[in-house]
Amino acid sequence: MENFRFCNGTDVRFGKGMLNCLPELLKPYGNRVLMTYGGGSIKRTGLYSQIRMLLTDFEVFELSGIEPNPRIQSVYAGQALCADKKIDIILAVGGGSTIDCSKAIAAAACSEEDAWQLVLNPSKIKRALPIVTVLTLAATGSETNCGGVISNPATSEKLGFQNPSVRPKAAVLDPELTYTVSSKQTAAGAADIFSHVVEQYFSREPCYVTDAICEGVMRTVVRYAPLALREPRCYEARAQLMWASTLGLNMICSLGKRTAWSCHPIEHEVSAYYDVTHGVGLAILTPRWMRYALNEQTLDCFVRYAQNVWGIKDNNDRWATAREGIDRTTAFFGSLNIPATLSELGVGNEHFEQMAQHAIAYNDLKNAFVPMDEKTVWNVLNASL
Ligand code: NZQ
Ligand code: ZN
Repeated sequence: MENFRFCNGTDVRFGKGMLNCLPELLKPYGNRVLMTYGGGSIKRTGLYSQIRMLLTDFEVFELSGIEPNPRIQSVYAGQALCADKKIDIILAVGGGSTIDCSKAIAAAACSEEDAWQLVLNPSKIKRALPIVTVLTLAATGSETNCGGVISNPATSEKLGFQNPSVRPKAAVLDPELTYTVSSKQTAAGAADIFSHVVEQYFSREPCYVTDAICEGVMRTVVRYAPLALREPRCYEARAQLMWASTLGLNMICSLGKRTAWSCHPIEHEVSAYYDVTHGVGLAILTPRWMRYALNEQTLDCFVRYAQNVWGIKDNNDRWATAREGIDRTTAFFGSLNIPATLSELGVGNEHFEQMAQHAIAYNDLKNAFVPMDEKTVWNVLNASL
C-alpha cells in the first residue's frame, strides 16, 4: 500500500432541505456573493428563486450562461466581475461545468497571471476566492474535489487543472435537485462516475480496502442508474448516485494506490475537438480501453472486476471471465441508451493524430495502468468509431 496524505476540508451538507443551510455556509466568508450558473436550468426548476430568497441578506451578483465543457472566455468574464464587484465568495450552482468554471474564476481573481496560464500551470495558483457549491447533477465529483477542466476553443484544447486552493469550502448535496436532470445527462453522469472509479481501480498498485470501496461505488451506479432513468423522482436512486459521484472523485477511491488515468485524457481530446458530452464520450471509450488494457499482466485485475462488480462466477476460464466483465460494461452503457460509437456523435478520424499527440504530451499516459503512446491512443480512438 502506497503512502498518502488525505485532507478534504469541504463541509458536506447532504439530504433533503439542505439548501436552507446556504446563508450559514456563506456567512463566514463575506457578504458579496458571485452566483454562477449555466444555461438556465436553475431558472426553469425554481432553484434560482429559492436561492435568491434565501440570500436576501447578501449582495448577490450573477454570472450566467456557463456552457457545458466550460470555456476560458467564461472564466475571463467571471474574473472581471470579481474585480469589478469586489466579490468575497463564489456560489456555484449547477453541474461540473459551472463548478469547474467557478474554480478557475476563483483562482484567476486572486492572481496576476492570465487565467489560461493558470490552467496550463496550476502550481502558479497560490490563492483562490472561497467557493460554495450547490450540486444539481451527479457526475463529476467537482463538488468537493480540487480539480477543474476548462476548454479553449481557440487552441482546440480541454485541460484539467488541480490545486488545493480551489477545493470548495462547502457543498450542498440535495438529491431532490437532480430530479429534473434529463435522461441523457443522468446516463452520462452515471457513466462519468463509473469511469472515474475505473480509472482508479485499474492500477499497478492495488489496495484491498480502497478497491473494495471502488467496487461498491461501481455496483451502486449499476444498481441505481437504471432506476433513476425509470423513475427520475426516485429519491433513493438520486441520493445513491449523488453520493457515488462525490465518493468517485474525491481521492477516496485512489488512496494507497498508484494511479495514472487513461480514458479521461483521451475523452478530453474528443470533447476539445467535437464538444461532446463528457460522460457519453467516456461510455464509448472506456470499454474499448479495457479491451486494449487486458493482457497477461492485468488479467487478475480484470477477473476481480468481473467477479466483484458484475457478479460473474469463476468458470475456470479466467480470460473468458475477464472478457465477460468487459462485455457487461459495454452492455450496461448501452442499457442506459448511450450511443455506442463516436461516429454517432459526429466524430470522424480526421484529427486523431493531433489528438493522440496532445493526449500524450499533456498527460502521464506513459505511466498508466497499461502504458500508452500515440499509436495506442490512436488505436483506442479508432476502435471507438
Ligand atoms: O447549463 P444548465 O442550463 O444548468 O443545464 C445543464 C447542462 O446543459 C444540465 N443540468 C444540470 N443540472 C440540471 C440540469 N438540467 C436539468 N436539471 C438539473 N438539475 O445538464 C447539462 C450538463 O451540465 P454539466 O455541468 O456540463 O455536466 P457535468 O456535471 O457532467 O459536467 C461536465 C464537465 O465537468 C468536467 C467535464 O470534462 C465537463 O467539462 N469534469 C470535471 C471533473 C472535475 N472537476 O473533477 C472531472 C470529470 O472527469 C470531468 O472531466
Ligand atoms: Zn469524468
